[in-house]
Amino acid sequence: METVVSGIRPTGNLHLGNYFGAVKSFLQMQNEYNCYFFIADWHSLTTRPKPENIVNSARTILTEYLACGIDPDKATIYIQSDVKEVLELYLYLNMNAYLGEMERCTTFKEKARKQPDNVNAGLLTYPTLMAADILIHKAVKVPVGKDQEQNMEMARKFARRFNTVYGVDFFPEPASFSLAAKAVKIPGLDGSGKMGKSEGNCIYLMDDAETIRKKVMKAVTDAGPTAPNSEKPEVIQNLFTFLDIVSSKETYDFFNEKWNDCSIRYGDLKKQLAVDIAAFNAPIRERIVEYSANTEWLDKIAHQGAEKAHESAAKTIKEVREIIGFRTY
Ligand code: TRP
Repeated sequence: METVVSGIRPTGNLHLGNYFGAVKSFLQMQNEYNCYFFIADWHSLTTRPKPENIVNSARTILTEYLACGIDPDKATIYIQSDVKEVLELYLYLNMNAYLGEMERCTTFKEKARKQPDNVNAGLLTYPTLMAADILIHKAVKVPVGKDQEQNMEMARKFARRFNTVYGVDFFPEPASFSLAAKAVKIPGLDGSGKMGKSEGNCIYLMDDAETIRKKVMKAVTDAGPTAPNSEKPEVIQNLFTFLDIVSSKETYDFFNEKWNDCSIRYGDLKKQLAVDIAAFNAPIRERIVEYSANTEWLDKIAHQGAEKAHESAAKTIKEVREIIGFRTY
């Protein structure tokens, strides 16, 4: 089986956009590939999180991924900071990464602009740490969003460069596996394009029926169709996209007909949509609640994942040390 690696930044609770944009593909991949899914807590240090938040946010992601159905017996799920070999590879890769190329990365420039008081070396070398995450397992495929394309190019460049510098054919060049191609884009309900944390329009997997109802009832609509069979404006299309994802075909068709004959009542549509989203969330939410109470079990999963990741990472590092010229005793 081919090896797949993907890192998840621990930035809070998962929302429906995350689920349909990424997690759902992970669920399929875990059956078809040798998957390593890790929580990128070292990466989060570029913005100086508080110590108490580091553990909690890694926990949250671990819990919610498991609740979504990531199966620790199929995929290796681990916390980045548990696998110290990654840092050793990060150091080696940094020795062959040039200041100029790092400074030219648009993600670096953007982040530097966002936090001008803290343009640290970790920010500059984010692409080498990400390359280390991937190359440590000699992964060939990496599921990522479009925004990660430049980081992926850097990872391929560092793999190639290592091979060239040492005259070996050791690291495979990891290919990006576009999540966008398979993802269903979840719209925001506030009339804006997309569901996202920074947009503040998220329905979280953790949300209960009442919270969902409140959010959905606030969704932006319009004055209603003025002619039969007219095209739906974006805000209305967004509601139908949602129905298409979480509701039955009958429900979708029912409201679509009402739209087409101009008898639609948005209030009814929203009520039904809220019920159907809540029904989709319910089993995941139940598991989140159950798992988060079971810290011992979570510790065990994290430990088991770390062991499995360590095994693969240690093998790579041993070979890398030999290639670079360190003696093994
Ligand atoms: N940079 C990725 C993001 O911002 C997270 C990440 C870190 C990652 N290391 C990775 C993704 C390795 C894939 C593989 O979303």
